Amino acid sequence: TGEETPYSFEVIEESARYLLAKTRHRPKIGVICGSGLGGLAEQLQDSDEFPYETIPNFPVSTVVGHAGRMVIGLLSGVPVLCMQGRFHSYEGYPLWKCAMPVRVMKVMGVEQLVVTNAAGGLNPSYKVGDIMIIKDHINMQGFAGDSPLRGKNDERFGPRFPAMNNAYDRTLRRRAGEIALDMGLADVVKEGVYVMLGGPTYETVAELNLLRILGVDAVGMSTVPEVVVARHCGIRVFAFSLITNKCIIEYDTEAKANHEEVIEAANRRKKDLQNLARRVIEVMAEE
Ligand code: 6GU
Repeated sequence: TGEETPYSFEVIEESARYLLAKTRHRPKIGVICGSGLGGLAEQLQDSDEFPYETIPNFPVSTVVGHAGRMVIGLLSGVPVLCMQGRFHSYEGYPLWKCAMPVRVMKVMGVEQLVVTNAAGGLNPSYKVGDIMIIKDHINMQGFAGDSPLRGKNDERFGPRFPAMNNAYDRTLRRRAGEIALDMGLADVVKEGVYVMLGGPTYETVAELNLLRILGVDAVGMSTVPEVVVARHCGIRVFAFSLITNKCIIEYDTEAKANHEEVIEAANRRKKDLQNLARRVIEVMAEE
């Protein structure tokens, strides 16, 4: 992966111009919906919908449970741009391509981003259905020498060496925690560290033991490339994981992780996730 070079500013501009020409909305808030969490997009009012295959230069998503379209409309009266379905490294895309929609959002005027995903709970206190506000991430593929920012840097997007401390905005994390309490989700909402692995395999027991030593609370296959690219171009980020299954850290068990349980858990917690995202978006719009 990563042999092709990232799209130029001009190519990104072409996608952005196409979308802006086809909607009256001017969203400053973007949302990337993870597996089974795309219901938020369906709540947008007065919406314009763009299947990915109709947007110039967009990749096409291939996973079941991901609709693969951009929806631009109003949520609580706030214009938002929602990606229903995302691009994953395991589908064969280089990391920069997974994250390219974030640059399109930036050029369209987006200043804040909500990112959601489904993840496995590695912290032993996490239960299926918990919501983990992402406090920080470990960019495993970054350790291995790959990054969505690999290659020539274009300063029109951001600096060559962007900082990644404070990637997940502290004020938004605190406000989301308060909202969760107000929603009666005190026992459900946690805050923790997310790691992205390339997938598509789930982890071995030895890999999970390693990740636990490294301070990981939840394990997934997305989010990090989009957040890295968003922070590079100065977009403020809030992200959360739905814990859809517990990571299996014993050798002698017949249980195994599977995509169906992920979708089921997402369906059960759908309404809470949508309400949390909506209320965080209201906070973002206030400021
Ligand atoms: Cl257990 N692992 C990974 N890598 N991604 C997941 C998951 C586990 N559960 C949901 N997504």
